[in-house]
Amino acid sequence: MNKPIGVLDSGVGGLSVLVEMYKLMPNQDYIYFGDTKNVPYGTKRPEEIYNYTKAILDFFVKNNVKNVVFACNTTSAVAYDKLKADFEGKLRIFPLIQTVAKSIQENLKNNDIVAILATKATINSKKYETEIKKYNNNLNIIGIDCTGFVEIVENRLYNEKSSIELIKSKLQIAKDAKRIVLGCTHYPYLVNIFKDIVDTEYYNPAICLAEIVKKEIYNPQKDKGKISFHVSKDPETFRQSAKLFFDIQQEINLTELK
Ligand code: DGL
Repeated sequence: MNKPIGVLDSGVGGLSVLVEMYKLMPNQDYIYFGDTKNVPYGTKRPEEIYNYTKAILDFFVKNNVKNVVFACNTTSAVAYDKLKADFEGKLRIFPLIQTVAKSIQENLKNNDIVAILATKATINSKKYETEIKKYNNNLNIIGIDCTGFVEIVENRLYNEKSSIELIKSKLQIAKDAKRIVLGCTHYPYLVNIFKDIVDTEYYNPAICLAEIVKKEIYNPQKDKGKISFHVSKDPETFRQSAKLFFDIQQEINLTELK
């Protein structure tokens, strides 16, 4: 039997990653944890984000998980290095930004503008810049703090005038970008709105991440994979907000972590 892959995020955002993984690895078992009690992560301090994520990883270890996907850019940006060391020998972790950085810069020319849309914590960490520059030092990378977008997704406020105004004001900053990176896993939920404002190439890191995880650890088997869902608050809100990406029919477990 496949050991489950642990997939974590602050809320429904990580489902945009789970969807891609499930397409490529349908026989795999997954445990998804959405930390809806503490969402959003992106406006919290790095120590807080570290503590929330560590509690989820402890839960995964207790549930026989050996491989974990950080379906959360914020956690990958500010907490991965320390958590990798903490769980050495127990868990193999695939952090989102570090895993996909090489593919982000493919087929771009020197001085092309790459805009990173992400949470405040991710932008402040400069993790995308640091990781992309390992592969190409000649791109013009701009980070755009999109505080507020996660709440729009979690609370389904896509049609509010104030949401559209906020999205427009942030996307305008990226209007000359050759490539726009959806640097928060909640943002694929909004990509059609983005495309109406700035018509350029959008890069969804989830697709590359799923391919790499498949290459590294997938062991195809005959059975169909099981997915179990856990959230730390309001399972029904999670179910409704997830709908745009994932029609969850089964039980969503309320699992409070210390
Ligand atoms: N979806 C997460 C990310 O990719 C976290 C967003 C948040 O909770 O602020 O960064």
